Amino acid sequence: MTSNIKNLSLFHRPLRLRRTPSLRRMVRETQLTLNDLIYPMFVMEGINQQEEIPSMPGIYRYSLDLLLKEIADVANLGINAMALFPLISKEKKDNAGTESYNSDGLVQRTVRAIKQEIPEITVITDVALDPFSIYGHDGIVEDGKILNDETVEVLVKQAVSQAEAGADIVAPSDMMDGRVGAIRRGLDAAGYFDVGILAYSAKYASAYYGPFRDALESAPQFGDKQTYQMDPANSREAIKEVALDITEGADMVMVKPALAYLDIIGRIKKYTNLPVAAYNVSGEYAMVKAAAQQGWIDEKQVILETLTSMKRAGADLILTYFAKQVALMFQ
Ligand code: PBG
Repeated sequence: MTSNIKNLSLFHRPLRLRRTPSLRRMVRETQLTLNDLIYPMFVMEGINQQEEIPSMPGIYRYSLDLLLKEIADVANLGINAMALFPLISKEKKDNAGTESYNSDGLVQRTVRAIKQEIPEITVITDVALDPFSIYGHDGIVEDGKILNDETVEVLVKQAVSQAEAGADIVAPSDMMDGRVGAIRRGLDAAGYFDVGILAYSAKYASAYYGPFRDALESAPQFGDKQTYQMDPANSREAIKEVALDITEGADMVMVKPALAYLDIIGRIKKYTNLPVAAYNVSGEYAMVKAAAQQGWIDEKQVILETLTSMKRAGADLILTYFAKQVALMFQ
């Protein structure tokens, strides 16, 4: 089509900087790297066992021997850090999560083995009772309620036993009040000054955790988690939680989930100078995988775009089940 308009006399033409790949690379504001990623991994009892989690295609629960192989693989691919979650057999579960601080428990044995065989990878352990609770709740239950202060006492024992096993960082994901301070004091009293705390500070009561609860067989047996996890409608309250955790001694803070909470990540990044982590949770993973399996989206592009959006929002670190896939893409 011919046009009489030869020149709009535009002074500013943003398209100039998008013309070639090298120009686009020059002005790119956010860079996703493997250093930003933490790989959540699932361990279970047994030897030479691996089970794919049906709602998380490509993600497995491994027995310890196979987990060690997988960790060696991902460390070779350039992944720096992993977060460990255990599948605990039913007969070891009780109301107070006592198995959580068994010095010979699954998590403790796994951490010792990782630190012996692949010492270079940073090991982050989960502090919470739900995988160990007959009720699938993050705290001790009495008359249908969660007992905050009694739970915190158990969480301290759990964190100390993880530190004793060699965890680099403990990550309380339970949302009990005062647990970060109590864990810090407990670790210090036991001599573990160097073990850091990654606090799940702004953790929302989210429907995006469904596939994770399948993986650990840890779905709540009654009610939901709304009396301790945050209301998805709240933003200022996230600042309150982060402020408390910083005062109590958190080394890093987290927002969880990530994708539906990018505004919270942005807000917290402005609020604190601590590293901010975001958890790209199981339901976010499952949605991308499901759509990709249908051929409805370009999986690789969507993964990179999604993780980049979290960094752009302000996340310094991202826990993501896509970590290995991204590492393979970056090879
Ligand atoms: C529980 C915990 C959950 C996740 C991490 N730790 C689930 C929950 O709070 O019920 C979810 C992670 C995910 O969905 O990927 N302490």
